Amino acid sequence: MKKYFTTAISYVNGKPHLGHAYEAILTDVFTRYNKLFGHDCLMLTGVDEHGQKVYDVAVEKNMDPLEYCDSLIPDFTNLLKASDVDYDIFFRTTTDSHKKNVQAILQKLYDKGDIYKDYYEGNYCTPCETFYTEKDLQEGKCPECGRETTIIKEENYFFNMAKYADKYEEFLNTHDDFIFPKFRKNEVLGILKKGLRPLCISRKKEKMPWGIEIPFDKDFVTYVWFDALTNYINGIGYLTDDEKFNSYWSGAVHNIGKDILLHHCVYWPTMLMGMGLDLPKKIVVHGFWMGEGGKKMSKSLGNVIDPIGLIDKYGSSSFRFYVLREMSLGHDGVFTKEFFINRHNNELANDFGNLLNRATHMVVNNFDGIIPEPAKDPTKETLFCGVLKSNVEIMLPQIKQYIYDFELNKALDGIMKIIRDTNKYMEDTAPWKIILKDKKLCGYVLYNALECVRICSILLSPVIPKKFEEIKDIFNGEMPTELVFGKLEPGKKINKAVSLFPKIDKEKEPVKIKEVVQDNLIGIEDFGKVEIKTGKIIKAENVEDSNRLLLTEVDLGNGDVRQIVAGIAKFYQPEDILNKHILVASNLKPATIMGIESQGMLLSIKKGKKLRLVEIDEELPLGKKLV
Ligand code: ME8
Ligand code: MG
Repeated sequence: MKKYFTTAISYVNGKPHLGHAYEAILTDVFTRYNKLFGHDCLMLTGVDEHGQKVYDVAVEKNMDPLEYCDSLIPDFTNLLKASDVDYDIFFRTTTDSHKKNVQAILQKLYDKGDIYKDYYEGNYCTPCETFYTEKDLQEGKCPECGRETTIIKEENYFFNMAKYADKYEEFLNTHDDFIFPKFRKNEVLGILKKGLRPLCISRKKEKMPWGIEIPFDKDFVTYVWFDALTNYINGIGYLTDDEKFNSYWSGAVHNIGKDILLHHCVYWPTMLMGMGLDLPKKIVVHGFWMGEGGKKMSKSLGNVIDPIGLIDKYGSSSFRFYVLREMSLGHDGVFTKEFFINRHNNELANDFGNLLNRATHMVVNNFDGIIPEPAKDPTKETLFCGVLKSNVEIMLPQIKQYIYDFELNKALDGIMKIIRDTNKYMEDTAPWKIILKDKKLCGYVLYNALECVRICSILLSPVIPKKFEEIKDIFNGEMPTELVFGKLEPGKKINKAVSLFPKIDKEKEPVKIKEVVQDNLIGIEDFGKVEIKTGKIIKAENVEDSNRLLLTEVDLGNGDVRQIVAGIAKFYQPEDILNKHILVASNLKPATIMGIESQGMLLSIKKGKKLRLVEIDEELPLGKKLV
């Protein structure tokens, strides 16, 4: 059967973080394992570009939202590349074909009566892009992230989720393994028991234009959930390539974090039922990475982990190994540098690295690098060899089954156990002693050790793909890939392993991991490029169809008058800012915001929900450069 693995698509309102890296690596690893086991697989990842959050940041930065999204895409693709994530599809929700599909889906559900217009009043959480009722709120704040919500009162379009609630509940009760881990299913059943409210799927264009126009009402856009969730089907040819869509959709596995369980395990299944499509095969819900002390990672606490910094320093393989091994899939995990170094040193450098070194060095030093003959009948010729072989033969199908069951931690435990058993086997048989008495018998032992090295390397290859390439070099590119004990060919030449996983010296390491907050340092030469000038606002008016933008004219002296669009309408009326003396970033490339050219940026300061322009002494002459 064909298989299809997806990550959630990331919001582009900031740089990608450890959570994004983890989810992409997790999904990549499942894809790689399934390919290894012979399945035809696709992997999709991407970005979720529409919505209030992205729009707010773009306006704040004085950029056109699409231009702003474009500018952040390299951060996301670079992280995927640095993490060795081998995706097939990088999905953007701003592509025309996706927008067309979303409109077709909305039209279909509207024609069926599943989508209708109604008056709405609700509390909207922008960081979560989700509506909540008064009852949902906890102490007046968002139940998911704990932040303030905004009351939104407007006519909107709704999707009638409740229509499919019974059918979905029955589906859950007959598909015990639809959601992994199982305890999440009870959470979803609990939500269904409370009854499903209609899902608000639109915003008035004049309030938030950054979405996909609703085909049956041009005054509205849809964004985030009706837009974002459908990426999973649109990415594999829904409505455009039936054959591709039909062959992969039935094998779809979504990998998501626990904060978007409601959206994937309630909204999405009912939406699919409305569209008349099958549900995905599985939804795998992972936990959250926490910072030092088990606290939520946040810039203000200074405990944000920068994945790129770690990968640059220690390599992608050690990073991938750590995040997959340390986090028990489905539960939260704590990321600390100490744990990271311990995992690397104990399991990669000591256990696996030592085995690689010992086995290859003995073969090169004593057998001229030629893989020795195995015992013809291991059970008879040497007792230990037989035990090792049969252990591996018992564990191989178990490890494979663990992967199919998404029990990644148990699979990795199994692989590490084979590695440790083989090290113990080396110590028990002591080939460095046998070689003095019986070269043939020593050859049997080394063949077995090398065969375990080969099998464990292949089993770890989805986790440490880059290092696996180096391991293949030990075998001169002639390593059989079958996961069957005994496939290693005697007579072929191998090389010594060069230290593949050097130990990290804890004493020499800085205590703290490089933090995201620190990666924005610039040199004085960069600062010198920015031109900030004194100016005076000589004209200000509202921008039509926007409750966020003001159109201003700013006098920079010497006849230099600039037209500047500023995202400050929520904080100032036009008359409030007229004649104010302010600061302007005056050498920015002009940007087009909602069709209007903006020739600079007014400097302002934001604190919580307040924003204030930076005002200066009226005595200062206009057009002076800040130095
Ligand atoms: O939710 N640890 O995007 P997003 C682990 N656009 N995972 C984490 C995490 C952490 N500390 N923080 C976030 C969105 N994540 C929507 C999805 S899908 C149709 C639309 C995970 O950028 C989070 O749970 O906020 C989610 O699965 C993913 O990162 C993207 O989060
Ligand atoms: Mg999020």
